[in-house]
Amino acid sequence: MNYLEINSSKNIILAVTGGIAAYKSAILVRRLKDYGFHVRVVMTQGAQAFITPLTFQALSGNSVHTALLDSDAEAGMGHIELARWADLVLVAPASCNTIARCAHGLADDLLSTLYLATKAPVWIAPAMNQQMWAAKSTQRNLSILKADGVHIITPDSGAQACGDVGLGRMPEPEVIAEQVHAYFQQTQNTTSLGMLAGKRVAITAGPTREAIDPVRYISNQSTGKMGFALAEACYAAGAEVTLIAGPVCLSTPYGVKRKNVVSAADMLAQSMDALETGCDIFIATAAVADYRVDDIATQKIKKIGDTLDLELVKNPDIVATIAEQAQRPFMVGFAAETQHLEDYANGKLVNKKLDMIACNDVSRKDIGFASDDNAMVVFFAKKYAMPARTLEKAPKLEIAHALVESIAQALQTQA
Ligand code: C5P
Repeated sequence: MNYLEINSSKNIILAVTGGIAAYKSAILVRRLKDYGFHVRVVMTQGAQAFITPLTFQALSGNSVHTALLDSDAEAGMGHIELARWADLVLVAPASCNTIARCAHGLADDLLSTLYLATKAPVWIAPAMNQQMWAAKSTQRNLSILKADGVHIITPDSGAQACGDVGLGRMPEPEVIAEQVHAYFQQTQNTTSLGMLAGKRVAITAGPTREAIDPVRYISNQSTGKMGFALAEACYAAGAEVTLIAGPVCLSTPYGVKRKNVVSAADMLAQSMDALETGCDIFIATAAVADYRVDDIATQKIKKIGDTLDLELVKNPDIVATIAEQAQRPFMVGFAAETQHLEDYANGKLVNKKLDMIACNDVSRKDIGFASDDNAMVVFFAKKYAMPARTLEKAPKLEIAHALVESIAQALQTQA
């Protein structure tokens, strides 16, 4: 079953409360619908001071629920029916007031009543002024909700609409929608569901940056998308995932532990650390810079001559180094080739002592690096006696799920 089929059977109530971040909720409806979810919107009175129900009606394709004691609305879909309809109640933005009311069991408006009446998981995305977020009563109420099983989406830090700077911004709609999506992937019957249950996975992703001087560096075009998609797919398959990420502009997939690194040396150190803390599967998607500057200048290099010589030395091969360790995990490498795919991929499989290698043809313009799609051929080490598997062009997340299946199948042959 693909993810759109799973999501199209899921109902989400998006509850919008009174805060300036309510404008982001309009985009959130769009993103949730992009993922295939059914969305119904509930608004508090405060929310309606910031944005109109009509906006949400148009975006969600459903009438908006605003009142508890409204006989017309109750005759349509009453609050109890609405509470039963939901597979997830997402309160975004969640104001200080709503947090306090839910924490103390009030039931005098539609949202607070819905909160009490639903059996569905409840997620809240608090959004407020940084001082209000830090207030003892807010933190106390949040711990009550947490203890009651509510999932709290940590607010972002940054400039706020009121002019303050600090914690309290609602995360971007794309980030929240992605987390909701990942949650349903994990809890529903995807083909890879449970395939990596109990496994600890470490994934390297993105480029590395090798400093030349305090302001310049050598790097490459990798966006990290494939590694992040794999992190999401491994988590959805039940694994505990550590994502060792070079400098990329991607948000951390839900449930994944992220370690940010800059250089190949940092990436190797974090990879060794992951191995020491326990790692069953190591997936190397990172485009590690092959060389680094031998002698990094401590001051900015001045443009004096017409040419500049930089002495480069080879970086350690991270995946090969991990593969040589005594407590060696199942090793997955990637190869980007422009020709002789099979020969080169098999060469790397043997030389780097990998168990599996996923190879893509980077001469194709429609896939690879910055693209959202990929296409691959997967090869396995001889001992698995598994034939090569071709994965036709598909979104990177679908490719990632297929790779998870291949990993699980290879592990199964050795069980
Ligand atoms: O040798 P090449 O760079 O083509 O190999 C690609 C594979 O090796 C990828 O899985 C990549 O993440 C990994 N690699 C690494 N450390 C390096 C170079 C490549 O882990 N220094």
